[in-house]
Amino acid sequence: DLKVVIVGGGSSYTPGIVQALIASRDRFDFSELILYDIDNQRNDDMLLIVEYQIGKEGLEHCITVNATSDPKIAFTQADFIFSQIRVGGLKMREQDEKIPLKHGLVGQETCGLGGFSYGLRTIKEILNIVEYVQIYAPEAWILNYTNPETIVSEAVRRAFPRIKMINACDMTISIEETIARNYGYDRKNWIPVYYGLNHFGWYKSIYDKSLDRDIMPEILERLKNEGLKVASFNEGDTTWQEAWEMMAKIVTNFPDAVPNNYLEYYLYSEETVEKMDLNYTRANMVMDSRERRTKIMAEKIRNHVGGNILDFNFGEHGQYIVDMAVSILNDDHGRYMLIVENKGAIPNLRDDAMVEVPSYVGRTGVEPISLRFEIDDFHKGLMEAQNAAEKLLVDAYFEESYDKALKAFTLNQTVPNANVAKKVLDEFIVANEGYWPKL
Ligand code: G6P
Ligand code: MN
Repeated sequence: DLKVVIVGGGSSYTPGIVQALIASRDRFDFSELILYDIDNQRNDDMLLIVEYQIGKEGLEHCITVNATSDPKIAFTQADFIFSQIRVGGLKMREQDEKIPLKHGLVGQETCGLGGFSYGLRTIKEILNIVEYVQIYAPEAWILNYTNPETIVSEAVRRAFPRIKMINACDMTISIEETIARNYGYDRKNWIPVYYGLNHFGWYKSIYDKSLDRDIMPEILERLKNEGLKVASFNEGDTTWQEAWEMMAKIVTNFPDAVPNNYLEYYLYSEETVEKMDLNYTRANMVMDSRERRTKIMAEKIRNHVGGNILDFNFGEHGQYIVDMAVSILNDDHGRYMLIVENKGAIPNLRDDAMVEVPSYVGRTGVEPISLRFEIDDFHKGLMEAQNAAEKLLVDAYFEESYDKALKAFTLNQTVPNANVAKKVLDEFIVANEGYWPKL
């Protein structure tokens, strides 16, 4: 009988995780679910929704759910901890997007300077959570989704090198699913080889077991000629449709690997800025859609009107993180793209970089594969610059160093010069008052 904690329980992604947990119950026997959040209002709303969800499945007698902001109650005797916090909420995400955009730079939650602002906010909170887990449930596994992932996991690596934490992102699954659906493949047959940093990487090959060959050449051809018309999840969400289009564009110009679509922000920063609206960014869109729907749903349940739980996004996100927990518990050795310390996985990249590479997940944790080939200079150069910038940012956090932060901001590849880097940094210092360390 497992105890599961969702950190950031009030998030509108929670029902997706719960749905995946319910669907996996035969292999993942959990009886206690805790929603842990510092925002009691949101957490209580989500508790109503999750109870409703569990009731719909007739499982209210098998699973107890509670919401709390008390770390001791949350983590004591926990077995699995799913972390998906968003420090500062969507209000601060809006700042992350709008401040760089005002200066003509990419305004995005994980890429560019917005991601750096978010990173400096998040490190402290993630380290706190890890600390609580050390105290109350040192044997528990932390499955971490918290963005910006390379920065967050780099900070945890430095402070808690031995922690039982798995850093995962659903983007690779989402890319694979999108490609498979568009061109008529089943990704369950795939053995993909991917490398990069989080939200910053490339597929080198995709071996299809049913076809008995590497299908990368044909996928590259089709990406160039047909693009991607069907979304795998977030259907009808135009932002994502645009992201898939940019992926096709990257392949047209650099036809040797399937890119992570997030590379658009680095390779075509100008173009992505042109498409953004300073008055209405992704944060605004999410507030007006997911956040609104969650509030309405909680209100409906409170007033006994019910509601459709399927309004929530049950995409790859929840399933992916639950599959990993199942893989640990049952020693499945499932293969996932995970963020790990390089240590030779990519032979010609520094050992202490946090990289995203194929890894097997079983009872003892993560076993990354070694690629056994050297990545080319183009990818390597891009990654090294990005990695150095991220490392400098984490240095800035631990050393409370303005100099390091300015270097990190200047080196970020969405930034054309040190003048604008400094302007944005200075604005972010003010906007992040109370969240950032004192630089
Ligand atoms: C993908 C990324 C996540 C990111 C999310 C944002 O799933 O892998 O890292 O948090 O997209 O989605 P949103 O709908 O909040 O913009
Ligand atoms: Mn991600």
